[in-house]
Amino acid sequence: MKAWGWAACALLAWGLAGPVAAAGWHHLGDAGRIERRADGVVVHSGDARVQVSVHADGVFRVRLAPTGRFEGDASWAVAQAADAPRVTITEDRAAVRVESGDVVAIVHRAPLRVDFTGRDGRMLLADEAQLPMAWMPSEHGTRVRAWKSMPADEHYYGLGDKAGPLDRRGRAFAMWNVDAYAWQGHSDPLYKSIPFFIGLRSGVAYGVFFDNTHRSSFDFGKESDDFFSFGAQGGTLDYYFIAGPQPAKVIERYTALTGRTPLPPLWSLGFQQSRYSYNPESEVRQIARQLREHRIPSDAIYLDIDYQQGYAPFTVDRAQFPHFEQMIADLRRDGLRTVLITDLHIKHDPGKNYAAFDSGVREDAFIRNPDGSLYIGEVWPGDAVFPDFTLTRVRDWWGGLYRDFTAMGAAGYWNDMNEPSVFNVPGNTMSLDAVHRMDDGSTRDHRAIHNVYGMLNARATYEGLLKLQPTQRPFVLTRAAYAGAQRYAATWTGDNTASWHHLAQSTPNLMSLGLSGMALAGDDVGGFIGSPPPDLLTRWFQLGAFNPVFRNHAATDTRPHEAWVDGPEHEALRREAIELRYRLMPYLYTAAEENARTGLPIMRPVFLAYPQAEAFYGNDRDFLFGGDLFIAPVVDERLDAHAVSLPPGAWYAFGTSQRLVAAKEPIRIDPRPQGTPVYARAGAIIPMQPLVQHTGQTPKGPLELQVYLPDAGVGECRGALYQDDGESFAYREGALLRVAYGCEATDASLAIESRIEHDGFAPWWRDAQVTVFGVTRRPAAVMVDGQSVKGWRHDASARTVVLTVPQARRRWRVELRY
Ligand code: GLC
Repeated sequence: MKAWGWAACALLAWGLAGPVAAAGWHHLGDAGRIERRADGVVVHSGDARVQVSVHADGVFRVRLAPTGRFEGDASWAVAQAADAPRVTITEDRAAVRVESGDVVAIVHRAPLRVDFTGRDGRMLLADEAQLPMAWMPSEHGTRVRAWKSMPADEHYYGLGDKAGPLDRRGRAFAMWNVDAYAWQGHSDPLYKSIPFFIGLRSGVAYGVFFDNTHRSSFDFGKESDDFFSFGAQGGTLDYYFIAGPQPAKVIERYTALTGRTPLPPLWSLGFQQSRYSYNPESEVRQIARQLREHRIPSDAIYLDIDYQQGYAPFTVDRAQFPHFEQMIADLRRDGLRTVLITDLHIKHDPGKNYAAFDSGVREDAFIRNPDGSLYIGEVWPGDAVFPDFTLTRVRDWWGGLYRDFTAMGAAGYWNDMNEPSVFNVPGNTMSLDAVHRMDDGSTRDHRAIHNVYGMLNARATYEGLLKLQPTQRPFVLTRAAYAGAQRYAATWTGDNTASWHHLAQSTPNLMSLGLSGMALAGDDVGGFIGSPPPDLLTRWFQLGAFNPVFRNHAATDTRPHEAWVDGPEHEALRREAIELRYRLMPYLYTAAEENARTGLPIMRPVFLAYPQAEAFYGNDRDFLFGGDLFIAPVVDERLDAHAVSLPPGAWYAFGTSQRLVAAKEPIRIDPRPQGTPVYARAGAIIPMQPLVQHTGQTPKGPLELQVYLPDAGVGECRGALYQDDGESFAYREGALLRVAYGCEATDASLAIESRIEHDGFAPWWRDAQVTVFGVTRRPAAVMVDGQSVKGWRHDASARTVVLTVPQARRRWRVELRY
């Protein structure tokens, strides 16, 4: 039993019939000695070792050590300590079985390969029988790869920031963070590397997280119809198998492993206005004024690179912004937070009293070349140096650079260009030989760190802000990321284009980010590059209103993109979309809290909630916004009817009693809708609020609860509300309000209930206004807490009943008796 040395041997052993790896790969041979451990096994194969262990419930880890020596356990992504639940190991002549929970890892002996099955024997993920894991020494380390058999009906989702159809099957992808200016649906790679995907087959899902920060690649059937593969140009073959069976369970486990997005500040869910660049100060103030004059609800204004002196990060151009602090304060008084871009490239500016550079030199904070000289690359400021974010002390130094801006009242920070982007060099990034230092004194070259560099930039920012303002939730927006970056920052999809093609591309990309742990994502509404025609811009506002991050942004040489620039008709449609988002803020914030707690994204492909609904496996256009709203946006300029296929069950046209049932034939909306078609799940209870102009404004009026009667008017419904102060961490000490709503509908009555699950925060509302949709008969009586009440309204044509529950922050029960 010895490892087969190289592919030619393998070829002889397996014959010519099956797939054959490229020459040069050393595939694993047969298994030899098996060491049992508390959490799994280590299997010898010649000099190589394979470790199969249980990391947490439903999460297995597989590692390959070609030389027999497992490298250190460090991971930038994994946040969850190994917590092996009960593991059972059994052996027979053919295989070793490692069982835990509902999953069995079968380690076959000849040749050594690893399959994952359910306890029921259902195959979930199998090494391609003729292609065991392999490695190949190369100039800069060892390449590694794994091949998995690919059932004909399996679909693949995830990989984070990727263009093109959400289902990755049939294509191959690289993971290498690049400044992908003007990327399109076929572009790859993009800004982020999230080497995690979900396999979905007939409603059953599993996940794979390949924890490798080197340049890696995933091939879902480009090379073969029979197998898919993943591997990297360096580092180790180290991956996690994550069990479902529901796709939502996979995401929950993946985000337990790599961490979840902390609850964002409420204002960051509001509408954000940006441009490259609002400059000078008078223009910023004018935009702020226009937002309010035009009654465009909004919460933030971004300052892009032109507020800085010579594009040097952490400086302010006082000639252009003479009253910078006062401006921030004035905007804040008007309910607008200021978000500052703070790129990571520090201007190389010796002897000029530039604090960020001088202090960085003093702290030995910058990356060096192998010969010890500073690595210098050209970016916005010209020659620039780059912080060595792999060192804790450098992240601490970086975090401290935010001291002045936080004191000036800035509310959020934008970490751009952190792939890192470097101008006028091949590959547009840092020299691959640049040296990154580790806390333990060792070093890595840029090949090993590149993909995680941007995430470490965001981490340094986030952790620095937490130290400077320990009671305030930081808001960081990052462009580059690696798995786990969701712990530190929200993200956007970089430099998109003002085209219909790109509008349609937005949703699959944002859904993919959400499936890959980064739920707080948005794109540049209107497109960054180019000038959108009015109708495209309007449709983009209408879609962006349902993106977790909703930010209008545009490049320097484009026409204005603000909501009011195309006359009153377009402005009204755009305002309407933004207003609906603000009215839905209690619902959206509740979804954001769910994301922070469970990892479930805010924008969800339909299959996430309905894994069996195979008709939606390839739907890139429509999505669920939270659990209860289905969004079917208009993302093309065709003139024919807008066709909408509803998810399973019954749905209501949002805000109406028009009940629709999923059918084979799509609904055709002709003429095309003016706004975005939105549908509420029959059986949903949706919390809303009166309109405000920003999230800091107290809504005037009651909490609004929209109750959509369950399918056929009989059954149950549910909803949830989460509220807190929206900005501090007091919720961690219990300063939060959590309410569960439910209803039970029969032929004779409808009972709606509010149950306070946690009562630690006093919200802005006192009463609740309940609107029931889908009421077919006038109730004979309406009771609140058993008392018949007056003052409710039945609208026969709208088929609604509206009533008010006084002092509604308590347990209450409403009954409609027919
Ligand atoms: C990059 C960013 C873009 C920004 C510009 C100037 O292109 O992706 O959003 O406006 O740099 O900072």
